[in-house]
Amino acid sequence: MARFSTALLATISLVGLAWAGASPRPLVVWHGLGDSAYAPGMLQFAEGIKTVHPGIFVHLVYIEEDLDKDRQAGFYGNVNEQVQLVSEQLAAIPELQGGFDAIGFSQGGQFLRAYVERYNSPPIHNLLTFGSQHTGISDIPTCRPRDLLCQIARRATNSAVYGSWAQENLVQAQYFRDPANLAAYYSANHFLTSVNNEIAETRNETYARNLASLNKLVLVLFTEDKTVVPKESSWFASEVVEDSADGQQRVFADRRTLVPMHEQPLYKENWIGLRDLDERGGVVFSECEGEHMQLGDCWEDLVREWAGGLVY
Ligand SMILES: *[C@@H]1O[C@H](CO)[C@@H](O)[C@H](O)[C@H]1NC(C)=O
Repeated sequence: MARFSTALLATISLVGLAWAGASPRPLVVWHGLGDSAYAPGMLQFAEGIKTVHPGIFVHLVYIEEDLDKDRQAGFYGNVNEQVQLVSEQLAAIPELQGGFDAIGFSQGGQFLRAYVERYNSPPIHNLLTFGSQHTGISDIPTCRPRDLLCQIARRATNSAVYGSWAQENLVQAQYFRDPANLAAYYSANHFLTSVNNEIAETRNETYARNLASLNKLVLVLFTEDKTVVPKESSWFASEVVEDSADGQQRVFADRRTLVPMHEQPLYKENWIGLRDLDERGGVVFSECEGEHMQLGDCWEDLVREWAGGLVY
């Protein structure tokens, strides 16, 4: 029997696809905090996807058209404005107009979810989020030792997280949600409270309808994640609070007691359409072994299964 090289096989399958009039659904990737659309790691990831799905169109979301400035925009900026900017960016890309799958790394995951709820034009088919903070974070991640940009942002965020400057300018503050201090969060936060439809008076039914229109929402959690607190935010869980002796609320001492997605009011009362989506089998819980965003080859099977499906 003849032996074909993989390159030849890839060519043959490409020709086969073209023959059948089919091509893989395009893919959009929104990078995480500390990364950039132009970082070597992201470009490499895009190449990796193209080996899994030959012929796929991949777009890397950017806020700024420059490696360092784009990285900076992950720390500083107004998230609502960034999501709007990205909605305009995606709407202007001809290859995406029939819809696309999307992958959000870390905070990019909740930002893409915001895109679905608020814009979704063109629409996302499958949304995969890796280590994202869907129910926020209750602590600001520590920084790598010499990462000054990160350290300054962390210090500023911690010192006045619910201040109006932080809520307009520090990205992490806009998904900081301390379950022991919800009153401050509800009144100060204009991003996560909104995309989670947490404020009854301003709840937006379009958000719920749009999220429920996803084919699949694939929620990937990193089993050893020590950056995202709590890591189960990737699965829409949050920490349980208790009343302490002085009548103040505080997070349960071990921080490990969690309200899982199915017990969240957001889910039970279907504020964002998550229950609708889940009840028809549209929510997939998945895990990658390791610390936050240590992808290894964990992405490969997920991308094979949930991205790049053939469109005729
Ligand atoms: C609800 O969200 C949609 C989509 O973003 C928007 O067009 C609409 O104005 C919002 N409705 C209200 C009442 O804010």
